[in-house]
Amino acid sequence: MPPVRKYKRRMSNSELPPIAATSAVSAATLAGRPTLRTAIVADLEFMFGQLMAGALNGHFDRRMLATERQAELRKDLDQIIRSNKRLETALPAEALVLELENGQPIGHVIVTAIKDAEGLELYAMALEPTVRGIGYGRLMLEQVLRVYLPRARTIYARCFPASAAMYELLINSGFEYLFTMRHSLIRVLSIGAKPT
Ligand SMILES: CC(C)(COP(=O)(O)OP(=O)(O)OC[C@H]1O[C@@H](n2cnc3c(N)ncnc32)[C@H](O)[C@@H]1OP(=O)(O)O)[C@@H](O)C(=O)NCCC(=O)NCCS
Repeated sequence: MPPVRKYKRRMSNSELPPIAATSAVSAATLAGRPTLRTAIVADLEFMFGQLMAGALNGHFDRRMLATERQAELRKDLDQIIRSNKRLETALPAEALVLELENGQPIGHVIVTAIKDAEGLELYAMALEPTVRGIGYGRLMLEQVLRVYLPRARTIYARCFPASAAMYELLINSGFEYLFTMRHSLIRVLSIGAKPT
C-alpha cells in the first residue's frame, strides 16, 4: 500500500529550515541530506517501533512494553500526528520525523507541552541504530531548539540512565542538569530560561 500522504504537512522553510542549512561543517560531512518534517499518519508504525525498541533498551519507559500500554501509545501517537494533542491530557504536542532524501525515515522526535508548567518537553527522540554516532542526533536537536526554544522559553528533557549518548548530547548542546528522580534515576535537564 502506498504511504498515506493525506496528512503530510511539510513545514515552511521559515519554520524549519533543511538540516543541511544548519551547520556548514555537519552538512558537508553528511550524505543524503536528511530533512526534519512534520510526522504523518504513515509514520506511526515507524515511530511506534522506535519507541518499543528504545523501551526494550532502557531509553524509554519500559512500562510502554505492556500490551495494553502499547495500544494506548499507538492512540497517543495517532492523536499527536492528526491533532497535535496528547491523548490523555490534550496537551499540545508535535511529532517530527527525520528522513533521508529517498524518503526513508531514520529518526523522530516528539515535543510536548507540560501539565501545569511553562515550557516544553522533549518527550521522545530516537535515531535508527545504523545511523547513530554520525551527527544526525545533534542536527535533529539543533533544528528542534531553533524552532521551539524561542516559543517555549524553557525546554526540558528527561534521560533514563541507559541514555548516556542523549545526556551527553544535551549537555553539549547547552542543557543544564537539574536533578535526578529518586526511584527511576531519570536525569532531568533544561535549556533556556531557568525554571522558577
Ligand atoms: C540519543 C541519540 C538521538 C543521539 O544521536 P546520535 O546521532 O547518535 O548522536 P550524534 O552522532 O549527533 O552525537 C552528538 C553527541 O552525542 C553524544 N554521543 C553520541 N554518541 C555517544 C555515545 N555512544 N556515548 C556518549 N556520548 C555520545 C556526544 O556528545 C556527541 O557529540 P560529539 O560527537 O561532539 O562527541 C541516539 O544515540 C539515539 O537514538 N539513542 C537511543 C534513543 C535514546 O536514548 N533517546 C533519548 C531518550 S531520552
